[in-house]
Amino acid sequence: MSSTTEHLSLLHRPRRLRRTASLRRMVRETQLTVNDLIYPVFVMEGENQQEEIPSMPEIYRYSLDLLLKEIADAANLGINAVALFPLIPTEKKDNAGTESHNPDGLVQRTIKAIKQEIPEMAVITDVALDPFSTYGHDGIVKDGKILNDETVEVLVKQAISQAEAGADIVAPSDMMDGRVGAIRQGLDDAGYFDVGILAYSAKYASAYYGPFRDALESAPQFGDKQTYQMNPANSREAIKEVALDIAEGADIVMVKPALAYLDIIGRIKEYTNLPVAAYNVSGEYAMVKAAAEQGWIDEKQVILETLTSMKRAGADLILTYFAKQVALMLPKAP
Ligand code: PBG
Repeated sequence: MSSTTEHLSLLHRPRRLRRTASLRRMVRETQLTVNDLIYPVFVMEGENQQEEIPSMPEIYRYSLDLLLKEIADAANLGINAVALFPLIPTEKKDNAGTESHNPDGLVQRTIKAIKQEIPEMAVITDVALDPFSTYGHDGIVKDGKILNDETVEVLVKQAISQAEAGADIVAPSDMMDGRVGAIRQGLDDAGYFDVGILAYSAKYASAYYGPFRDALESAPQFGDKQTYQMNPANSREAIKEVALDIAEGADIVMVKPALAYLDIIGRIKEYTNLPVAAYNVSGEYAMVKAAAEQGWIDEKQVILETLTSMKRAGADLILTYFAKQVALMLPKAP
């Protein structure tokens, strides 16, 4: 019997295109590049200080001088943007997050220094009160409730002071209603019509933020964030939030967390022509690091597979603590 007759006659054999590495590369649909990465960084007061965050191995809070070195490193790896988060000393916290719009505050000083030392690095700043709030909530607290409109007024001041310091993009992560429109108006009235808004549009009330709250000592002092962040069970509501933020003037919309919300990233990508960002959050980072430390998974492969899944789902931009590590693994982007 000739060998050919032993074969099934199949018109389609998908394995033909998986046979060699060259063929696989040719039909690859999704390519992660360093241009997709935004590196979230933590800054604290002091000089020559760095503290590793226990629940986030290899991620540090840096004093400004050392942060500038870290950011210069990131720039050398081809990373285009950082997202800045501050550790605010307890004595500077209050209910209204007043320190958030101090023109000489830690964030404002840090933005200026980055823009002076590494001007090509895009600086994205967090607009929210939690790092500045005695209660660790994203808004002003009254009788156990989080006030919306009063909070938005402070957020506008915060965003303007960040723009004044030189931020390229402000990123409201607070989930108050109407904040994107108010911030757009406030920035425009102050002459900052070129400063963009990356809206945390579909931000879920997630347990994956735990390590981040360790990093900033910003865990809520009572209750949780379910009256403003979204219910993880909801998907159509994400479209509603995105639609509102776009109508109010968002330049980029974001889904957060990323890994447990790939379906949401996919839906939003279908819905809008705006760039879509995804936040590969602290808990997602911690899970990979913990399993890798145990030797239970191949760290590099898992990181690449995870971030590629976010890109495949539709993310144009990914905020990730793996940014530097990944930049080292990827082919240099044009
Ligand atoms: C708060 C904020 C949070 C994160 C970014 N901005 C935490 C929260 O909402 O409690 C989480 C990021 C992460 O977990 O990596 N405005």
